[in-house]
Amino acid sequence: MTVALSKPTLTAEQPIGVFDSGVGGLTVAKAVMARLPHERLIYLGDTARVPYGTRSQATVLRYSRNAARFLLRHSVKLVLIACNTASAAALDALNQELPVGVLGAVEPGAAAAVAATQSGVIGVIGTLATVRSGAYERAIRRMRPQPDTRIEAQACPLLVPLVEEGWTAPDDAVSQLVLHRYLTELARRSPAMDTLVLGCTHYPLLRPAIERAVAELWTHPVTLVDSAQAMAEETARRLQDDHVLASANTWSDASPRLTCFVTDEARVSEVGSRFLGQALASVQLVDL
Ligand code: DGL
Repeated sequence: MTVALSKPTLTAEQPIGVFDSGVGGLTVAKAVMARLPHERLIYLGDTARVPYGTRSQATVLRYSRNAARFLLRHSVKLVLIACNTASAAALDALNQELPVGVLGAVEPGAAAAVAATQSGVIGVIGTLATVRSGAYERAIRRMRPQPDTRIEAQACPLLVPLVEEGWTAPDDAVSQLVLHRYLTELARRSPAMDTLVLGCTHYPLLRPAIERAVAELWTHPVTLVDSAQAMAEETARRLQDDHVLASANTWSDASPRLTCFVTDEARVSEVGSRFLGQALASVQLVDL
């Protein structure tokens, strides 16, 4: 017998819960903190089990349930799946199972792409699991049912390790070589593409490098859509609708704006700081 969890009464004082397979979701945390300066965030990076992008849907769903349960123990008012791979595999299930709202990365990214495209020809790059799931295609088609909608997705599995290594400069020869290899294939299949979704938490760090490669491979302008920005906007909307948006007066104590938990500490401070754009103050080790 399944017992439905009763909906708790939510308040503005509760933190927002954010989880990712690793530290890449800190790009989402950064965007949310910039958009909502009065909110407190509890972040969980499942660094012991990263990457999710090469694993099966069933495994990613199991890991995502563990992560969401951990965040609920911290009384979060909203769960953000700051990982495209986990969003593709687990959003529907978590939405049904959790007693609080859940936002994934795919829907806000798809909505931003639909708003940006003129031609209806949209490209998506992401991990193998995200591309295989077809989640972006489904979301984009639902939002833009017109028959001229064309979506081409390209898995780019080597981009995550490149970003973690810090090889993100637009003139980095290795990154450009790898980007050209993937994007040449996308340009061949989708020469009319006018919008490209960066469908992975790691890709915003490669944005200038991707812009450069895209400018070399497409002869017309292409708009890049970053799902971290789109998620921050959607978070603001959701909290506003639920009347639980924190304001300047919500917090009287000096607790940190971001509390970060990880399941393995190796390289977290060094790599995580790059994603957050500032030093990661304190990181606590947990077992899920
Ligand atoms: N966070 C993942 C995503 O956005 C990338 C890293 C991984 O494969 O776990 O798809």
